[in-house]
Amino acid sequence: MAKPKVLVTWPYLFPEADELLQQETEVAYHKEERPMTRQELMEALCDKEGLLCMLFDRIAGEVLDAGPYLKVVSNLGVGLDNIDIEAATQRGIVITHTPGILTEATADLGWVLLMATARLIPQAHNFTKNKQFKGIRYHIFLGKDLVGKTLGIYGMGRIGTALARRSRGFNMRIIYHNRKPNPEGEKETGAKYVSLQELLRKSDFLVIVAPLTPETHGRFGLEEFHQMKRDAILINIGRGPIVKEKELIQALKEGLIWGAGLDVYEKEPEIEEDLLAMNRVVLLPHIGSATIETRSAMALTAVQDLVEALKGKKPRHSPNWDKIKG
Ligand code: GLV
Repeated sequence: MAKPKVLVTWPYLFPEADELLQQETEVAYHKEERPMTRQELMEALCDKEGLLCMLFDRIAGEVLDAGPYLKVVSNLGVGLDNIDIEAATQRGIVITHTPGILTEATADLGWVLLMATARLIPQAHNFTKNKQFKGIRYHIFLGKDLVGKTLGIYGMGRIGTALARRSRGFNMRIIYHNRKPNPEGEKETGAKYVSLQELLRKSDFLVIVAPLTPETHGRFGLEEFHQMKRDAILINIGRGPIVKEKELIQALKEGLIWGAGLDVYEKEPEIEEDLLAMNRVVLLPHIGSATIETRSAMALTAVQDLVEALKGKKPRHSPNWDKIKG
């Protein structure tokens, strides 16, 4: 029997994932290390049954329509805001993604970013590497203490809970806000559910871990920053558009909050120039899940689910399988 044709929108994956793809499918990799243009993507989909895409690929109904044989779209990541799931469901196209696998790596990154921002680590590192260290000085690189402070989590799902777990060694008080309370997360970490207003008012460190939805889009702007503590630090490891970047810059300039650490951006990969120049801002290139172990496990899971769904079997992680097949 002919193997199903599959498109991967990047020139390579990880060895195990690639091996399985070669074994089970007729795979075509994008040839260049850059995102495919919409045109290229649409043209390449004309004879494919499967698509393995990245978070930067925007999969709208129009793109799906370019693949008359398309059955499965497997997203290499947990967030699904780059895919129009409703459009896929209407067309009977199964979507898969990679939740769970990247929880610990992403929580680690959130924690590292929080500490790096609070203690100005990248700034101090650059200073030292630039040979500016001339002996201890008592008034430079003064950061913020963590122990005994209040950690606020916006989005207490798997990653939020894992992040809260990490903070316990720092004897922090944990509060969180979600669409609905998470009793399991509370039991595991001692976190307390609060309103968004209370989260803003009480957090010393406010970490955004939520997915991008119509409800979270633009949730953090000047109005919210005005309610925060003046020495609070904002961390975003969720999705960029949850924070209005220009208003964050204004808040930092006006001293409404102390600092910010970002792994994601409103118009990714573009970053507001002012942010690049700011002292108490630490910026990372969307590396939440970027460890060798986690990224290769994500790739393998994405391929396994793609292959399973192409065979008509229920994949492990699909937001719309039950709607289509149920
Ligand atoms: C990372 O941002 C992901 O959604 O996997």
